[in-house]
Amino acid sequence: MPSTREEPGAEGNTLKRLFVTGGTGFIGARFIPLALEAGYEVRGLTRNARAAERWKHAGVTPVHGDLLTPGPWQEEAAASEQVVHLAQPLTFGGRVTHKRAVAYREQRLRMDSLLLESLKPGTVKRVLYVGGTSYYGNQGHNLVTEDSTPRPSGWGPYIAPAIEALPGYRARGLPLVEAYPGSVYGLGSWFEEYTLVPLKGGRRLFGLKETLVNKMSPIHVEDCARALLHLLEHGEVGKRYFVVDDEPVTFADLSRVAAETLGVTHRRVLLPRWLCTLALGPVLTDSLTAEALLSNARLHATGFQFRYPTIREGVPALVRQWLETRAQTR
Ligand SMILES: NC(=O)c1ccc[n+]([C@@H]2O[C@H](COP(=O)([O-])OP(=O)(O)OC[C@H]3O[C@@H](n4cnc5c(N)ncnc54)[C@H](OP(=O)(O)O)[C@@H]3O)[C@@H](O)[C@H]2O)c1
Repeated sequence: MPSTREEPGAEGNTLKRLFVTGGTGFIGARFIPLALEAGYEVRGLTRNARAAERWKHAGVTPVHGDLLTPGPWQEEAAASEQVVHLAQPLTFGGRVTHKRAVAYREQRLRMDSLLLESLKPGTVKRVLYVGGTSYYGNQGHNLVTEDSTPRPSGWGPYIAPAIEALPGYRARGLPLVEAYPGSVYGLGSWFEEYTLVPLKGGRRLFGLKETLVNKMSPIHVEDCARALLHLLEHGEVGKRYFVVDDEPVTFADLSRVAAETLGVTHRRVLLPRWLCTLALGPVLTDSLTAEALLSNARLHATGFQFRYPTIREGVPALVRQWLETRAQTR
């Protein structure tokens, strides 16, 4: 893979200004250091004053603002040559009801429109829009490509209006590249909370019978962030890319590899679907049980090299990292 480090500086010897939304989030927190390392002048939008302070020390210029409210942040976005849009309304934690998902849908549309409307087609050279593969939904055993017909399920119907608004922005001249991560596993999210912590504590994991057989398409969070940076530089404008690793697996496979690495017994309690729906809500239950075997051929064709091509490399590395971090903080 060509080094991403030299490219921004190589074109014209000035740092490219990159405006990032969602840089404090699960994926964004891994993306920002990579962008700095690759030589971008990073401006990060956040509503969080403490995160802004931390960014200043790390070499990121914080831009205070809320994507739901017009403000001076739009001028910062408009002055940037590159934009990576990772922000999304809150999804993690708690039960996701239809009402909560509708609020997500409306907020996501407004966030996208206030950002994308503020960009100037002449100035901005690349906009990386990060969506989600739930837009493609439950596809059964077939291998799905970016050109397959979407059948939104889980969060999918609620992100669909935002995704389906993108051709309008493209028609206005915005150079959009779309990236759709699959099930992103890493520390600081569901994988740590619902898999590593209970396994290490000797507890059983909760699951649904579908999570034993239905395959989803995972991606290690570091590879996800690396792929986003790669697509910012090498993705084709107007194209959509799945950001998933080489091998679809079940959620049970993922926790089994984690248990093996931890040296603990993998024990599962299967919940009836109605109980899961009661606890997590229908949206998350549908997301957890959707079958999605997504192809990463288009991402591979751009020259992207995975550090963790499957969970057999990614999960043990993550478990070791988790154990080291725990040992240091004790
Ligand atoms: N995580 C996954 O497994 C996964 C899978 C597929 C696709 N994706 C997609 O990847 C993207 C990033 O996901 P993530 O899990 O990293 O996100 P996340 O952890 O939920 O972070 C959300 C980010 O959005 C920002 N944000 C929320 N509301 C905002 C507002 N009104 N104004 C400005 N910023 C706002 C937050 O910034 P502040 O709080 O600092 O303002 C935060 O940085 C999303 O588009 C998501 O749909 C994620």
